[in-house]
Amino acid sequence: MRPPKGRLELTWMGKDMALIPTAHGKYDYEWVDPADPRACEIKSIEVVDTVGEPAGPNGAEENLLIIGDSGDALRSLSTVPEWAAKYRGKVKLVYIDPPFNTEQTFEHYADQLEHSIWLTMMRDRIRDIKPLLHEDASVWVHLDDSEVHRMRVVLDEELGAEHFVATIVWEKSPGSKGDAGIAVNHDYILIYARNEPAWKKLRNRIPRSARQAGRYANPDNDPRGPWRQGADGTAKSGNDDLRFEVTTPSGRVVTPPKGNYWRFSKQTLETARAEGRVWFGKKGDALPVIKTYLSEIAEGVVPGTWWPNHEVGSNQEAKRDHLRKLFPDIEPFSTPKPERLLQRILQIGSNLGDLVLDAFAGSGTTAAVAQKMGRRWVTIELSTDNVERYTLPRLRKVVENADPWGITSSTERVPVSVLPDGVSAQEAQQFTTMLTKLTDGEALPVDFAREITKAVRDLASSERSPISQEEAKTLLALLRKVAGSDVRVEVDVMPQVRAQLREKAKTRNETTILWEGGGGFTVARVGPSMYEVDDDSEVYLSAAATNGAWSKAVAGQLKFTLTPDHPVFCGVRNRQRLAVIDGVVDETIVRTVVEHLHEKEKAVVVGKGVLPEAEALLAELSPGSRIRKAPGDLFGKATVR
Ligand SMILES: C[S@@+](CC[C@H](N)C(=O)[O-])C[C@H]1O[C@@H](n2cnc3c(N)ncnc32)[C@H](O)[C@@H]1O
Repeated sequence: MRPPKGRLELTWMGKDMALIPTAHGKYDYEWVDPADPRACEIKSIEVVDTVGEPAGPNGAEENLLIIGDSGDALRSLSTVPEWAAKYRGKVKLVYIDPPFNTEQTFEHYADQLEHSIWLTMMRDRIRDIKPLLHEDASVWVHLDDSEVHRMRVVLDEELGAEHFVATIVWEKSPGSKGDAGIAVNHDYILIYARNEPAWKKLRNRIPRSARQAGRYANPDNDPRGPWRQGADGTAKSGNDDLRFEVTTPSGRVVTPPKGNYWRFSKQTLETARAEGRVWFGKKGDALPVIKTYLSEIAEGVVPGTWWPNHEVGSNQEAKRDHLRKLFPDIEPFSTPKPERLLQRILQIGSNLGDLVLDAFAGSGTTAAVAQKMGRRWVTIELSTDNVERYTLPRLRKVVENADPWGITSSTERVPVSVLPDGVSAQEAQQFTTMLTKLTDGEALPVDFAREITKAVRDLASSERSPISQEEAKTLLALLRKVAGSDVRVEVDVMPQVRAQLREKAKTRNETTILWEGGGGFTVARVGPSMYEVDDDSEVYLSAAATNGAWSKAVAGQLKFTLTPDHPVFCGVRNRQRLAVIDGVVDETIVRTVVEHLHEKEKAVVVGKGVLPEAEALLAELSPGSRIRKAPGDLFGKATVR
């Protein structure tokens, strides 16, 4: 009998419930019924500032830093018409680095939510992210061992197990901690694609590492550019057709060593030779190699899952080598990620001008990297303190070209000429540094007779030997007599050896400037909740939402008489009641307004945002009542920007 088919699902206490953030800028949540208006309400997003260039490529119109809870912000971005037009279905890449639930209290945020709260919070954020995703989008979720196993199941459930792409293992720290049983040196980044075939088309290869590219050089100034010299042109397997004779430019006739075969046919070698693509060594005397040109192989390499810190940076690089330099007078943000890590992610999953989202901004690494790489971005941070201390000043510095660190420039060690096979530019540099440390003048004892004997034997057996084998024998016999027992001499070989080795391992630094400032961004804040709860758990429209200072100003503008004690309406004019909503007018608000109208009364509802469903509902429940959007409908200007 086959077991019944079913979905694998993770359950937890409160999975069917909803969470609301308990207070603005505080990291805590409260369980509520999913139908609670505070859980479904759409809050306004209010622009508070713009930084840098207002328009143009990567200007303030393109990029958005939102202060507030990510759930609130994400829902508004996909629902409020003005924002939805720009963001719904438009995000190409999401990277989130939420608190890992490590049960620590970091300096700049607490990280100790009970598992079920953490899972519900994350599940809901993923649900809120989904409507924003473009067809070829990918979602990258950065975690550690605390929750990665549970989150993988939740992500399977929310995004579809079939859309799982891979888990990246990032080597976050090079060293080990002294007191740990086993030192954990890595984090995980789970990747999901909204639609794998579409995403695969977008997915970019990553540039060859310096080590990989270092194998290509151009010692003979080949106009086709750098090329790679393999070990030689022979292989251990083949057939007799691949053992033909080849005459080198120096005139020597060579065949593959015993038991080996050419890697190429006679015809292929002849064609390559006619095209000048064959390398016979510097003296034109070595076994032939057909060159592989860097320009002819696929650009870049397919990304793998192991990301060592020498390629993408470490925690320490982000904190000590970047944020501490950017803000020398304050304690750096607790858990910033290195810009090189985000550079790699954005390189793979987005292109110039694409929209990138990070719903847990922290110090703003994703936005900073996106700006430097010419991507558009939205980032959300709950803590006003974090935004004021880190996120905002950092992004300001990026725009003003006052952040020379991170990926602003990169310096690579590159070979000056072709390096010996298997030696990277870094290794060559390490080699010459250590060689330099060796002092000159240290005479080494050399067994003179033995060295000469070896050299004479080698020379005599080579085809270039000026003396015959017989003459060599005689020479060696005489050498023993002439040198006698006094065969050891002290020789200072270092200067000569060093010069020769250095010549073989020459490298230099090559610096590329990626970013020179420019562009801008908008700063916005999630508006307050429209609702309050009384002691009997009754939810009602809050006084701040309906009768605050702004409501009074609007009532004056529209010439309504103030009714400050009314729970919903702030003004009256003949049979018209005025409700000014300091946020987004949704269906719950419309129902509340209509419930409070007396017979024959009509409502004028003014809101900072209006959902289309709310307008339709008001027309149905109270024909003749109207909704106006502020400030556009009041002053003839656009609402949000
Ligand atoms: C691990 S840090 C992110 C670090 C960031 N990747 C960086 O490189 O600086 C997590 C951030 O998420 C913020 N956060 C926590 N809960 C949030 C929520 N509900 N909405 C928005 N941000 C939140 C925390 O305040 C903290 O700054």
